[in-house]
Amino acid sequence: MNGAPGVRAVEKLLPSIREELSVDFCITNGENAADGLGITPRLAERILAAGTDVITLGNHTWRRKEVLSYLGETDRVIRPANLSKHAPGRGMTVVDGVAVINVLGQLFLAPPYGPWEVIDELVAEARASTPVIVVDFHGEATSEKVAMAAYLDGKVTAVLGTHTHIQTNDARVLPGGTAAITDAGMTGPHDSVIGVVTELAVEQMRTGVPIRFRTAAGGVRLEGVLLECGEDGRATSCELVRYELEQ
Ligand SMILES: [Fe+2]
Repeated sequence: MNGAPGVRAVEKLLPSIREELSVDFCITNGENAADGLGITPRLAERILAAGTDVITLGNHTWRRKEVLSYLGETDRVIRPANLSKHAPGRGMTVVDGVAVINVLGQLFLAPPYGPWEVIDELVAEARASTPVIVVDFHGEATSEKVAMAAYLDGKVTAVLGTHTHIQTNDARVLPGGTAAITDAGMTGPHDSVIGVVTELAVEQMRTGVPIRFRTAAGGVRLEGVLLECGEDGRATSCELVRYELEQ
């Protein structure tokens, strides 16, 4: 989700969506909550209070310094596991019988080490607690996300892509019982360039001169995927979710 419009959409829509779709567990990628860059403890608490069980983060994890101590205190907000081992926070959590793993792709995002170096250990650790395991693969490249989903097929419940903000048309359940999508989409303003005021994003790309970005306001939607799985952790369905926020 992205910026104040994204937080507003989560607060206004998520409680009724949870009820309407009988949702047992909700994961939100919140790394763009604070005006597009990072998250603050206060915003995290609002997103959790609105009906999110676990918040994942990404390449903008450290943008807001307030989050440093907060990540060490909570088990409901996790950051990519393949950031520095010396940084605060964790890359995997188990809440109410659901394990959530967060990793960062290696293309363009330059994590200290690749997701492939940590994923086996994380999945083994998660499986020791529960068969229901959801991986948020925060990455730029479709190929990395598809490859990770194929690699983890039969080992986890779902591999859900985030970071690119454009909901992709490939929600599916793989033969081994792992649900997958390359990008779950964006909860935030869609009259924009992936959340940023269009004119500002275009101007920076056209001129090459850095410009301070602002979060856009129009066309606010809540997007995501709805997963179903059995007690054995095998996914049985993976469907796109999209709701418009009346403004
Ligand atoms: Fe990101």
